[in-house]
Amino acid sequence: MHIGIPKETAGGESRVAATPETVKKLVSAGHRVTVEHDAGVAASVPDAAYVAAGASSGTAAEVFGAEMVLKVRAPSVAEIAQMRRGAVVVGMLNPFDAENNARMAAAGVTAFALEAAPRTTRAQSMDVLSSQANIAGYKAVMLAANLYQRFMPMLMTAAGTVKAARLVVLGAGVAGLQAIATAKRLGAVIEASDVRPAVREQIESLGAKFIDVPFETDEEREIAKGVGGYARPMPAAWLARQAQLVHTRLTQADIVISTALIPGRAAPTLISEDTVKAMKPGSVIIDLAAGRGANGGGNCPLSVADEVVKVHGVTIAGYTNLAGMVAADASALYARNVLDFLKLVIDKEGKLVIDTNDDIVAACLMCRDGQVLRAA
Ligand code: NAI
Repeated sequence: MHIGIPKETAGGESRVAATPETVKKLVSAGHRVTVEHDAGVAASVPDAAYVAAGASSGTAAEVFGAEMVLKVRAPSVAEIAQMRRGAVVVGMLNPFDAENNARMAAAGVTAFALEAAPRTTRAQSMDVLSSQANIAGYKAVMLAANLYQRFMPMLMTAAGTVKAARLVVLGAGVAGLQAIATAKRLGAVIEASDVRPAVREQIESLGAKFIDVPFETDEEREIAKGVGGYARPMPAAWLARQAQLVHTRLTQADIVISTALIPGRAAPTLISEDTVKAMKPGSVIIDLAAGRGANGGGNCPLSVADEVVKVHGVTIAGYTNLAGMVAADASALYARNVLDFLKLVIDKEGKLVIDTNDDIVAACLMCRDGQVLRAA
């Protein structure tokens, strides 16, 4: 099969969907791989490294003309237009983007959105949300340490003692748990909140304190269990109690890392403007949900996507692609996720086989033969 690896064109995207390691495996499996000029340059992979792995270097038209195109982000209108009918695209295509699904279907493209894979043990090696959120959680702490004007650990020096930073993590999924682990290594004192009671143990095992918002009704307890491992929107009464508790904890905090998301919906508002006003001057918020909340904000409505703003004395960073800031490792892990997924849709003879009885394949398949297969 001819496989194309384009240079990503989405603003600020530095990752690439294949690395010399994965290209080598594709080539040794009998595929012909073309990598667009400079596709890996922002992730520190020069063209020569791909060529040494067995790929050829080509133009955008050549890679988009391939039978299969491996992407990081969804192809643009112009990119879809360059693809052949019946070609396959694999990437983080944003399964909830109904417009893009319709566009790809109209172009006759077969599209697999890897974010739609179920969170099961078998899907773990191709779980792009986990591999990238893990990196984002780490990078969030690095950015916080950089923007914060004090030390993270407690220090006893000849010039006196410096207190440890107090860090609060809102949303303890993959990114939040990695943020806790990273901040712990830097010596911060950490508290974390999540709707799913199952994460309490994980938070505590990483050495952080769980901010407990007790359930008052069976309905709250039931909704909090989530679905498929994901959170569901909690009843207003629970959210109000959580907001009150979070408000109090944040007035004591130095750094907040918020990661709370609900698939297919706006990210919940967890840090109100009043809370920001009440925070200590010099505090830092890293809002990983920036751009995904109501009105374009994040878990904090004051967040601005891809900007660092200072509001009421608090620095709020709204970077939307933290994994892309660790481009080399993010690409390496993503490329392995992609390669593992390809094993499900390419048979031993190197031919495309789409087995919709396979739950991972069926979940990721967005469109085929002109039909949108997912109701976003
Ligand atoms: P996510 O990125 O969708 O959300 C981040 C976190 O925000 C979640 O923990 C969620 O519960 C939390 N959240 C949502 N609303 C909130 C609110 N109002 N207040 C506080 N927190 C709130 O989650 P992610 O990281 O993608 O993880 C989703 C699930 O998938 C988890 O249960 C995780 O354990 C599971 N998972 C399973 C894997 C497997 O078994 N193969 C692999 C990776 C993750």
